[in-house]
Amino acid sequence: MAGLTFFRTKKPEEIVRFYTEEVGMKIWLEQAGCTLLKHGNFLLGFCGSDEVDTQGVITFFYPDRSTVDEMYDKFRDIATGEPKDNERYNIYNFFAEDPEGRTIEFQTFLHPLEPYMGGVELLETRRSVRHYSEKGVPEALLWKIFETCRYSPTSKNTQSYYFLPIRDKYVQRSLANERSASSAPIGNAPMAVAICSDPEKSLRHVQDGVIAAYHFMLAAWGYGLGTCWIADMDRERVKEEMGVPMDHYVVTVTPLGYPQEFPTTPKRKEVEKFVKILGDNIT
Ligand SMILES: Cc1cc2nc3c(=O)[nH]c(=O)nc-3n(C[C@H](O)[C@H](O)[C@H](O)COP(=O)(O)O)c2cc1C
Repeated sequence: MAGLTFFRTKKPEEIVRFYTEEVGMKIWLEQAGCTLLKHGNFLLGFCGSDEVDTQGVITFFYPDRSTVDEMYDKFRDIATGEPKDNERYNIYNFFAEDPEGRTIEFQTFLHPLEPYMGGVELLETRRSVRHYSEKGVPEALLWKIFETCRYSPTSKNTQSYYFLPIRDKYVQRSLANERSASSAPIGNAPMAVAICSDPEKSLRHVQDGVIAAYHFMLAAWGYGLGTCWIADMDRERVKEEMGVPMDHYVVTVTPLGYPQEFPTTPKRKEVEKFVKILGDNIT
């Protein structure tokens, strides 16, 4: 389910150009006389008309202050003031005007948010986070993420995976030191979570665990939290440290916390490079 807001515009081409080229919205749908744009899951339609709708405020929000600052650098000339903290709403924001005089706002919320991203945005924006803010992960939030993980698929629905939250600083430090630089991100977060699986429950416990771990990482990202896959943690010393039975599989131990900064996207190959077409069976 979703929704959208329409505005009438006397200058459809200029307005669509402004919101796509300047603000960075994408065209979602072209209709006769209207263009529907999207920013994350925010849908906005502009329809050519003899009238102009300028009421209300069009607000774009971003995950951090630095992106709001970047938008301010871009829109300095049309901004009505510099970005600042607004204590009443616990946001950091500034206002500007679009070419027809609509008020637009660029902001970041300074408090945790309930998930708002659509599935595609979640999949496309998740990054490995290796540096974290000191702010702790609220217990209730952690349980919401685990609740989402109940829906992770498993072979024959055996649900052979389990999660081990690690808040003990001694254990966390020792896990961070296990593989030097590769495991160091575990020590940079307020907590860590081990994802394990039990071979007695399923022949496919490795796959079950790997999928559950990625499910956890995506759910955490949806709640604004960062994670990082740390490989090769299925080790005796790691299991001893965490009290995990030696025959169980440690899929990964991920750091968990609020990202200190949002990492840029590492280079990805073009889609044609990893989809191999056999014959002409895909049209
Ligand atoms: C199987 C696997 C093993 C990984 N092992 C590590 C690791 O030991 N330490 C680490 O910092 N990152 C590790 N990563 C994270 C990758 O470096 C990261 O996913 C990749 O560079 C792409 O970046 P992104 O996750 O931000 O898109 C691992 C990722 C995967 C999928």
